[in-house]
Amino acid sequence: MRRKLAAGNWKMNGTTISLTEAENLAKAYTSPSVDLLICPPSTLLSRLSETLGNSPIATGGQDCHAATSGAHTGDVSAEMLKDSGATYVILGHSERRDTYDEESEEVRAKAGTAMENGLTAVVCLGESLAQREANNTLDIIGGQLAGSVPDGATGENLVIAYEPVWAIGTGLVPTLEQIAEVHGFIRERLIRRFGEETGNAIRILYGGSVKAANATEIFSVADVDGALVGGASLKASDFSGIIDALE
Ligand code: G3P
Repeated sequence: MRRKLAAGNWKMNGTTISLTEAENLAKAYTSPSVDLLICPPSTLLSRLSETLGNSPIATGGQDCHAATSGAHTGDVSAEMLKDSGATYVILGHSERRDTYDEESEEVRAKAGTAMENGLTAVVCLGESLAQREANNTLDIIGGQLAGSVPDGATGENLVIAYEPVWAIGTGLVPTLEQIAEVHGFIRERLIRRFGEETGNAIRILYGGSVKAANATEIFSVADVDGALVGGASLKASDFSGIIDALE
């Protein structure tokens, strides 16, 4: 049985005041029946991890370097994330694939380093609108999945997030059939590569304009094991509505 996961990606949002939102969330969920995760900007990671130290809410980074240390100005290593209290790291988000031309090969290297450092990699996959309209969605997702996920993945050290690029921050959401098709396809590919047991243990999140109002129906889709939430994770009151839909 896969445990559901509600993950918040704060992206480049949040300063000290935002810790209050996390505190409010921690007060509301002292023993949640689903896993909860917040990935703040790296400037807040240590403090957020301390703030949530006695709560069941995990913290994660939004990226890490593939190298373990060295001359990489501005970058953060997996070991540094771990040292800041993180247990997860988001990798291959479309905003990074896009802005920094991150290819799947690089995402795979980062995920390997993250796993070696004891972090769970949340590897993001997603097609653009042009790719969907050209009927290339499954080819793109299949390619990103094969290219971005390292060997040795397990249900413990890997989470997949399907985030159609055109649904991120737009208010647009795929139909339930479209979500079911892609999640079913990812599940089948995971089983083919890692075997029945491991392939069925890896969680697959949906991300892209998830909010309390659409969460229940999205979570009713087979193989949707939770959500990776952007905008609606910034306020405890909004994120709570999504968590409640999963519980
Ligand atoms: O990683 C989460 C994300 O890209 C979705 O963002 O704001 O559409 O929930 P949003």
